[in-house]
Amino acid sequence: MPSFRTLDDVDVKNKRVLLRVDLNVPMENGKVADATRIERVATTINEIADKGGKVILLSHLGRPKGPDPKHSLKPVAMTVASVTGRPVAFAEDCVGEKAQAGVNAMRPGDILCLENTRFHNGEEKNDPAFVAALAKLGDLWVNDAFSAAHRAHASTEGLGHTLPAYAGRTMQAELDALAKALEAPQRPVAAIVGGAKISTKLDLLGNLIAKVDVLIIGGAMANTFLAAQGKKVGKSLCEHDLVGTARDVLAKAKSRNCEIVLPVDAVVAQKFEANAPSRVVSVDDVGDADMILDIGPRSIEQVVSVLARVKTLVWNGPFGAFEMEPFDTGTVEVAEAAAELTTAGKLVSVAGGGDTVAALNAAGATGRFSYVSTAGGAFLEWLEGKALPGVEVLRVK
Ligand code: 3PG
Ligand code: MG
Repeated sequence: MPSFRTLDDVDVKNKRVLLRVDLNVPMENGKVADATRIERVATTINEIADKGGKVILLSHLGRPKGPDPKHSLKPVAMTVASVTGRPVAFAEDCVGEKAQAGVNAMRPGDILCLENTRFHNGEEKNDPAFVAALAKLGDLWVNDAFSAAHRAHASTEGLGHTLPAYAGRTMQAELDALAKALEAPQRPVAAIVGGAKISTKLDLLGNLIAKVDVLIIGGAMANTFLAAQGKKVGKSLCEHDLVGTARDVLAKAKSRNCEIVLPVDAVVAQKFEANAPSRVVSVDDVGDADMILDIGPRSIEQVVSVLARVKTLVWNGPFGAFEMEPFDTGTVEVAEAAAELTTAGKLVSVAGGGDTVAALNAAGATGRFSYVSTAGGAFLEWLEGKALPGVEVLRVK
């Protein structure tokens, strides 16, 4: 990736490194409930510390409006210590005297975590005075928070205009994986787009139609496409007012030579609950009282046969109501097939988005994909073809 400066391009020894990480992790009862994001950035933290840099961690947690103990990074800093196996000091503010005192006390190789950047409203405003207050604490800025790169905030973007800026190892891996998936992929490329609503994914569908060879549509948004083809969807989630839009998407796909794959059968139930009595029907036979909660076995076969003939897969959004058994079957079986093809060296598989990661974790497939992004909104915006401020600021001009 020659267009980004990385840790290979800087000597961090004795330098104060402001390292933007995404410690916005799920919390339960004051403890970190899922440390995946911390595990991902541990490599960068350890590398800088091992090279004798002073690692100053910057992050937000949650969406506080000002200082709020519920959103303190202190318990998260303790998890950073256990994941990296190193002591991590904590400063109760991210700017000002407390932060400065913490930084002044550091020796090469030390790690200091600063308090939640969103305790100051200058963070989200990308306020130059706040950027300057952060910049005072460091000699250089390393951005390792791809998952927050869609935000043009002081710690995710502003600092990159003020201090020498570098991509961290996690950012590098993420950009590399995404480039292999869409910028310069091995063709043919398929995308799976699932989730509830087309209204939130129109930009995504538009961009993917222009870039991929096969677009597989799943989740409740597939129902809107089925309705657009004149099929009855009963009581299924469906944006009936968007059937015209769905038709436009299908027409655009046709004109761009992008093959669209829609379900041919469905698992339907009359109640939206786990283990509700269900049956498999053709998409032509959905009853008035039926709700489509998953794709059926013929649809699974159809998707798996697409995966067998493509070289690259990008996946965002589950197929069915994957959080309720047995309606996770479609997602689980497709995930398993993608994982096997990847392990066999036949497929490059890249997935991301909150629900998608939860579904792939539940399916036990995450570790066998080529890359699973921990990013939600940032992954989606990237798939939509949008420029991410926290990535753009790292480009070598
Ligand atoms: C995320 O979890 O998606 C990122 O950390 C960004 O958080 P935000 O949506 O609160 O800006
Ligand atoms: Mg978010």
